[in-house]
Amino acid sequence: MNKQIIKCLFPAAGYGTRFLPATKAIPKEMLPVLTKPLLQYGVEEAMSAGISTMAIVTGRGKRAIEDHFDRSYELEHQIDGTSKEPLMSGIRSIIYDCTFSYTRQVEMKGLGHAILTGETLIGNEPFAVILADDLCDNDGEAVLTQMIKLYEKYQCSIVAVEEIPMQDTNKYGVIAGKEIEDGIVKVSNMVEKPDPKDAPSNLAIIGRYILTPDIFDILKDTKAGKGGEIQITDALLTQAKQGKVIAYKFKGKRFDCGSVDGFVEATNYFYEKKIN
Ligand code: UTP
Repeated sequence: MNKQIIKCLFPAAGYGTRFLPATKAIPKEMLPVLTKPLLQYGVEEAMSAGISTMAIVTGRGKRAIEDHFDRSYELEHQIDGTSKEPLMSGIRSIIYDCTFSYTRQVEMKGLGHAILTGETLIGNEPFAVILADDLCDNDGEAVLTQMIKLYEKYQCSIVAVEEIPMQDTNKYGVIAGKEIEDGIVKVSNMVEKPDPKDAPSNLAIIGRYILTPDIFDILKDTKAGKGGEIQITDALLTQAKQGKVIAYKFKGKRFDCGSVDGFVEATNYFYEKKIN
């Protein structure tokens, strides 16, 4: 029988240097868009896709993440029965409905290395990955829900992709392949942050993945690539060469909240949505 996706991994150990000095003592994933930290949006997306087991890869200086997804008795005692209580209802139900486990990435050797660090929390089963600094939103099904449905059909690793302006290819992993269904590409090549002139297409991987567990052994054999980091793109290329990766042009909006421009855009978008 096919294994279901029941766990979501959140690599959240990066330094977030683009947000210094804000990220000196506060994890990037805890920066709020309106009143909610980025990571909470990611956890809510995973929950809406039917996942309740959250596995988080943290690092030094990231303890605020663990505190956020835990009870805060003193605070709750103070606000219970007041007009502020509803502000806590979302996070309260997350804490009630989900389990959280953590492991630390001791050296920040890249996203691929962070995912490999999460093996101890995931085990030998397919899993979802959300990079919380890519904030996704839409009116229909969440991006991860769309991808899990696709996994049920294809049973292989899946990357979410978006068409980007050609001049931005050097910020993303970029794929190439053959469209086998509307919006679904069987991946034959992928390159991490190529110069526009070397990019195989303008289809960029964003921070949503479904990975099959063989990725862990592949990552163990993956050498440091672009930027001296162990890249998930390089490990996925090994799977792609075996015909085991598809790219999915997701439906919805995506904000790159790892950049200041994207963060401001997301804030404006969610504010407009809230007041309208
Ligand atoms: P980024 O490429 O955005 O890097 O990581 P970063 O370090 O967080 O941010 P900048 O570029 O310095 O501003 C993409 C995702 O991978 C995680 C990050 O936490 C983020 O969710 N990551 C990256 C790790 O967990 N470990 C790493 O070693 C690198």
